[in-house]
Amino acid sequence: MTETPSSQTPYFDSVSKKLKCLFKPNEPSNGIIGFLSVVSLFGFYFFYLNYNVVVNKGFISGGESERFMWFGDGLRMGREERVLVGYLEDGSSGCDLFEGDWVWDEKYPLYESRECAFLDQGFRCSENGRPDDFYTKWRWQPKHCNLPRFDATNMLERLRNRRVVFVGDSIGRNQWESLLCMLSSTISDKDSIYEMNGNPITKHNGFLVYKFKGFNCTVEYYRAPFLVLQSRAPDTAEKKVKTTLKLDQMDITSTQWRDADILIFNSAHWWNYEKTIRGGCYFQEAEDVKMNMTVESAYRKSINTMLKWIHMEVNMSNTHVFFRTYAPVHFSRVKAMVERQTNHLLQWLRGTYPKKVVGLAPRRGGDWRTGGNCHMETLPGLGSSSQTWAHFNIVNDVFSEHSNKLPVMKIDVLNLTEMTSRRKDGHSSLYYLEPGAGPVSLHRQDCSHWCLPGVPDTWNEILYALFLKREA
Ligand SMILES: *[C@@H]1O[C@H](CO)[C@@H](O)[C@H](O)[C@H]1NC(C)=O
Ligand SMILES: *[C@@H]1O[C@H](CO)[C@@H](O)[C@H](O)[C@H]1NC(C)=O
Ligand SMILES: *[C@@H]1O[C@H](CO)[C@@H](O)[C@H](O)[C@H]1NC(C)=O
Ligand SMILES: *[C@@H]1O[C@H](CO)[C@@H](O)[C@H](O)[C@H]1NC(C)=O
Repeated sequence: MTETPSSQTPYFDSVSKKLKCLFKPNEPSNGIIGFLSVVSLFGFYFFYLNYNVVVNKGFISGGESERFMWFGDGLRMGREERVLVGYLEDGSSGCDLFEGDWVWDEKYPLYESRECAFLDQGFRCSENGRPDDFYTKWRWQPKHCNLPRFDATNMLERLRNRRVVFVGDSIGRNQWESLLCMLSSTISDKDSIYEMNGNPITKHNGFLVYKFKGFNCTVEYYRAPFLVLQSRAPDTAEKKVKTTLKLDQMDITSTQWRDADILIFNSAHWWNYEKTIRGGCYFQEAEDVKMNMTVESAYRKSINTMLKWIHMEVNMSNTHVFFRTYAPVHFSRVKAMVERQTNHLLQWLRGTYPKKVVGLAPRRGGDWRTGGNCHMETLPGLGSSSQTWAHFNIVNDVFSEHSNKLPVMKIDVLNLTEMTSRRKDGHSSLYYLEPGAGPVSLHRQDCSHWCLPGVPDTWNEILYALFLKREA
């Protein structure tokens, strides 16, 4: 649902083409649904107006200063006075880094995208024409302690002669590129940072290894969106089975990252029907292709397999393992629906209402490039959201089932789903193509990847804090 389709965005994964479980556009809905939708437009329209008033209350007519004050008052007053303990100091033991608020901080961002050569075009929102930069100015403030200020030199010193490896999907790649920018911001000789095989950031055969020569350290990315092994279907399988995910084996590249010093996993966004079964990608255990297994239970098994693998293969005294939880997407249903229907009403009034309306069925609000909406979101949501996320819950379940076992206890969970869910303003939205090629049209928004500088920098600031804590 969130991975970039290769046809339009060459900056992402090319290796996946062969194996990739395909994503097909919505089936055209029939005219009746179209008609009903036009009729329901008016109801939605009122709801939308209300929604706008609520969401934009206080700044729709106000200037910038008013806007910030609104946040200042709403979020920070009263807490500013309290002196919090530093996370690395004594007395911070009860501090959950993932419980807190986003606060406005003029000292951010930590770097400019123009000055970082290690970014995919898709993440360079500001260079791609995004007009606001508010999304770069929010700092994460844990409730009961302070995060250490990110210090690139300090981190590089501690990474001397070591390897940092990210394994997962393109949201993991988002975070990896963020870390490359954060670390390189301190280094003036940019030529001393290079990809070991000479590959540009836009092209890779499943992995990229950047070396910081002055520190003999590498920061690496391996593409393995399912973490487990994807391969050709066995000969005995039914015809509709094109590939399988072997739920009991880790990805083929695992031998390359097993001995990393820091290992950061993520996996979630590819575990859905569209990216698996719909494209002929089924689940396999030992020799059996499980024709009836649900995506949910397959995902659960894959997380179990990862934990088992860590237990068997990784020496936890040498390797600091992280698992990053699901990073929520923000394809707003309401706005997308209203915009589509307004469009259809206009067409209907002009007499150009299409016979077959594509993508109108409210099957989903629309996701990757099918009409979901996060454009014009320029401010974080306030407070926690009561949403539930299936992938997040499964991971929490599996981790708690194993919680008394040693390897699980030693894994640092980047438990950032809830805090990230409040950052609907941080996505690439229309601004993932280079100037000239973009911005894209409203119904092709990217509300799953993140602008950089931006939200993934915060994930890395927390990674940094947990890393320093473990080193101490
Ligand atoms: C550089 O780091 C690697 C591990 O990433 C280590 O094996 C190697 O010995 C280091 N080289 C030097 C010269 O220290
Ligand atoms: C899978 O489901 C179908 C239809 O629900 C059923 O007929 C079949 O027996 C099931 N197969 C297995 C292996 O459970
Ligand atoms: C793990 O690494 C430590 C430190 O290098 C070493 O002493 C220990 O023997 C290793 N454990 C295993 C099971 O290899
Ligand atoms: C992550 O945080 C949630 C609360 O937001 C908590 O319920 C859950 O147990 C945490 N998960 C892990 C693996 O630490």
